[in-house]
Amino acid sequence: MPPAHEESAPQTATEVLEADADGIRAAADLLRDGELVAFPTETVYGLGACAFDEEAVGAVFRAKGRPSTDPLIVHVAGVGSAEALGDLDTDGGLARMLVEAFWPGPLTVVVPKSDVEGPGPRLATAVSPTQTVGLRCPAHDVALELLRTAGVPVAAPSANRFGRVSPTSAQHVLAELGGRIRCVLDGGSTPLGVESTVVGVGEAAGCPPGSVRLLRPGGVPLEDLVAVLPPGTLEDLGSASVDPGVAAHSPGTSVSHYAPEVPVVFTVDTPGLAAAVAAGLRSRGLRAVELPLPEATEAARGLYSLLRGLDEPPTGGTRVDAAVVSALPPEGLGRAVNDRLLRAAHGHLQHNADIETIDGILERIGVPLDAPTARTDQR
Ligand code: TXA
Ligand code: MG
Repeated sequence: MPPAHEESAPQTATEVLEADADGIRAAADLLRDGELVAFPTETVYGLGACAFDEEAVGAVFRAKGRPSTDPLIVHVAGVGSAEALGDLDTDGGLARMLVEAFWPGPLTVVVPKSDVEGPGPRLATAVSPTQTVGLRCPAHDVALELLRTAGVPVAAPSANRFGRVSPTSAQHVLAELGGRIRCVLDGGSTPLGVESTVVGVGEAAGCPPGSVRLLRPGGVPLEDLVAVLPPGTLEDLGSASVDPGVAAHSPGTSVSHYAPEVPVVFTVDTPGLAAAVAAGLRSRGLRAVELPLPEATEAARGLYSLLRGLDEPPTGGTRVDAAVVSALPPEGLGRAVNDRLLRAAHGHLQHNADIETIDGILERIGVPLDAPTARTDQR
């Protein structure tokens, strides 16, 4: 990894602020003073910095250990603030159509940075090294109040260390970034549970003029985007139920991400396969479980707690050696859940065509084949 990843973040005591009027005002003051503040949104907790403050934005990358090439989303309180930062009218106003339909809400639009010259402060260059900016207006009372009170746009990635599982509670934020950031505004669990859908508009975002590209599936389902956009403007994604290629265009969506330390095996398309794989792994002496997923909305809400709980089982629980989980139907929030599970499994997918042997799976998840059936102390 480049040195930026390794740079250690300065240590500081992280304060937990209640998300009442006083807490929000204090957090807004801290943001304006150039401090880092984690805050709840409807998707996951964000790690916020004033988007005009080069120093503060740089500190976000250091606290997360995130490469500086991976741009941050800028959070705004409404369409009016977004217009000052990015061009919503590019490519026939496709971005404007989308934000009018889905804001406030879990949609990020990547558009050309605004070239309007004015006396006001400018977006810090560290926010995005390219000519584009990702803009989002979150549908969460605390986040919106914080943005309005601070009166500045807030650059915020998810409040986890780079490559790890995103936080859906203030406790998760402390586990990830405690001692590295000034404070976390505790607004309880985030209702949606997976990040915003990210779309790029037009040539600036690397897609053909007059078209929209899905860069990351998320809280706004694909079907809802299609319903709002003019026919044919959303790029064809193919019909695969889980496509490792989908959403590979955004710098931050590398194939291995959201990965717990416990290896995850992700299966698709074959009913009963996850249970069979888990049983096969157990027959080799591993503690392996099949993770049950409820329907998509609930699965999304609980997904990151489920993945986090693999590494840190609740008191009295035992850490497993491997978890096997089956894809949801690829519709609605199911696409976002599948996308995150695929990344949690480091891009490895088991389906009927490539269900090799249990030996193959053991090799992939890092258990050496010549190990005498993994462990002898079967429990
Ligand atoms: O729900 C969310 O989007 C959360 C909350 C905190 O708002 N934020 C979030 O940020 O997930 P982050 O940084 O963890 O993921 C943002 C993704 C990354 O994959 C990043 O590369 C992409 O959006 N992105 C941001 N700005 C971009 C740009 N200008 N061009 C292309 N991709 C961009
Ligand atoms: Mg993230």
